[in-house]
Amino acid sequence: MGQAHRKSRELEPVEPPGTGVPADLIGPHTVEAIARAVYDAMYDEYKEPLCAAPALSSRMVEAGLLGRSAATVPPPDGGAGPAGGTIAGMRTLLVIGIGAGDPDHLTLEAVKAFGRADVFLLLDKPAERQDLMRLRRDMIAEHGRPGHRVVELVDPARDRGAAAYAEAVEEWRERRADLVERAVAEQVPDGGTGALLVWGDPALYDSVTAVLDRVLARGRTEFGYTVVPGISSVSVLAARHRTTLTRTARPVRITTGRRLAAEGFGPGSEDAVVMLDGQGAFAEIDPAGVHIHYGAYLGTGDEILVSGPLAELADEIAELRREARERKGWIMDSYLLRRTDD
Ligand SMILES: C[S@@+](CC[C@H](N)C(=O)[O-])C[C@H]1O[C@@H](n2cnc3c(N)ncnc32)[C@H](O)[C@@H]1O
Repeated sequence: MGQAHRKSRELEPVEPPGTGVPADLIGPHTVEAIARAVYDAMYDEYKEPLCAAPALSSRMVEAGLLGRSAATVPPPDGGAGPAGGTIAGMRTLLVIGIGAGDPDHLTLEAVKAFGRADVFLLLDKPAERQDLMRLRRDMIAEHGRPGHRVVELVDPARDRGAAAYAEAVEEWRERRADLVERAVAEQVPDGGTGALLVWGDPALYDSVTAVLDRVLARGRTEFGYTVVPGISSVSVLAARHRTTLTRTARPVRITTGRRLAAEGFGPGSEDAVVMLDGQGAFAEIDPAGVHIHYGAYLGTGDEILVSGPLAELADEIAELRREARERKGWIMDSYLLRRTDD
């Protein structure tokens, strides 16, 4: 085992100068594939950071830096590579899904991504809940590599009172893109790696990837970015209630409290997961024939779970969330609605 460890280390294109020549010829993606095959098995067994695959080759592959091999060997996905070629000094950004509250919900891929970042760009809401900030900082302290930096960016406030919702969101995204563009240019070193931490899974009601695409489209700052999926609050909701999101051969809809209030949940409605419900839209719909699986602060020590017929539980849930919001100063909750009459 020790022998295998030393052998593959020799392929790593790092110190001392000159030993990178063979790696340059076969390409960092080949080095990466070999290293992963060897190191990942060891890491899985020993959970020892020294046994993890070398970070440098992963970063080079992500940045599209494929060395001399790039002239003849296509990158593993057969395309131009995430950075579109071999541009020296390209920055890499990692958008890392961190789970929705439980530090144990960080995936191994996310932990490894934490270990690759030179700098963490933390987008904080102006009145960010302290406990949520602490959770992110604890994760960085535990999984960041020595010498990492943390830069806090204060997210611009959104005009929630604006009548024109879509325009207000658009304007907010533009200002957010300004902030991120400046931070990437000023804080992520050339050839370095920056990490943006996203609550839950970046694929669900999160704008970080849209903001990065917007920054790239402006054409002033070059970087490649990779998304690391996270465990979403929706996955935790289903797990806690020991249910599935999809019933046999049936669809499920993911929607917002605002839309639920506008559209209702009448007979024939598809099962729906409701998020971003500041106003408690579940209490505004006709509850007849509807079952609710409700969860607040999922994955945290304050978790609240309620499940049953909406007609019996709507008032109780409304009261629980009012009390909880008063006690903690904020609430994050989601629920699954399911008609039981069809
Ligand atoms: C901006 S969205 C982000 C969702 C996130 N990307 C995810 O994958 O869960 C925020 C909404 O997610 C839901 N949410 C996030 N974390 C939650 C938690 N720990 N418990 C319950 N709901 C949560 C709530 O509906 C909240 O309004």
